[in-house]
Amino acid sequence: MIHLRKIRKKYQMGSRQVTVLRNIDLSVSGGDFLAIMGPSGSGKSTLLHILGCLDRPTSGTYCLNGKNVFEASDKQLSRFRAAHIGFVFQNFHLIPVLNVFENIELPFLYAHTDMQQPEMRQKVAEVIRQVGLADRVNHRPSELSGGEMQRVAIARAMVMKPEIILADEPTGNLDSKTGREILALFHTFHDAGGTIIMITHDREVASHAGKCIQMKDGNIFV
Ligand SMILES: Nc1ncnc2c1ncn2[C@@H]1O[C@H](COP(=O)(O)OP(=O)(O)OP(=O)(O)O)[C@@H](O)[C@H]1O
Ligand SMILES: [Mg+2]
Repeated sequence: MIHLRKIRKKYQMGSRQVTVLRNIDLSVSGGDFLAIMGPSGSGKSTLLHILGCLDRPTSGTYCLNGKNVFEASDKQLSRFRAAHIGFVFQNFHLIPVLNVFENIELPFLYAHTDMQQPEMRQKVAEVIRQVGLADRVNHRPSELSGGEMQRVAIARAMVMKPEIILADEPTGNLDSKTGREILALFHTFHDAGGTIIMITHDREVASHAGKCIQMKDGNIFV
């Protein structure tokens, strides 16, 4: 399903070049549940953003379902992303002026679906119940705790029933009970055939995944 070959990512910082991903080869099959671990700054989020078509590498190829991703235009990529990939950002990326319901509803608007509004609203309400935020639907992000914001981010990633969930430290701000509930949601998604790639610092959380890779200095170690 996912094939990365010789992916490199460099950033130009003034006169200096910073190489963040060195030569990443990675294959992920449909239905895999993969954990990515590694020290801070090792390139985990950068890799996940490339996997999520949110960023382009400096060089290398990325084939997703047989298509060479970076031959597509930005517009094609964003439509594809909205329909197939749910992304849980490390710092949530919620829209401050929208409430919980509206934030979670956003992917439907990005995907330009022809679904009718009552059905959309029903799906949003269902995922809100699943993450335990039914009594917070009218709150804006500034009126939520860190753990609640994280659950909104997770609900937004799951609402479209994507094929792939890419999650950057999805349990990082959660107490252990809520963390277990989120992992249970991931297991349900995975048991139904979904593919998950999840970054975590927590070995116990990583042990929920079927496979784990380690990153260090922009390289992958299996
Ligand atoms: N836009 C950017 N410009 C320059 N350097 C960047 C940029 N984004 C990330 N970096 C650098 O790339 C390196 C990898 O960053 P990345 O966010 O992928 O790390 P990470 O493994 O996710 O770390 P953490 O566990 O702290 O989230 C860091 O050293 C960071 O400073
Ligand atoms: Mg990170």
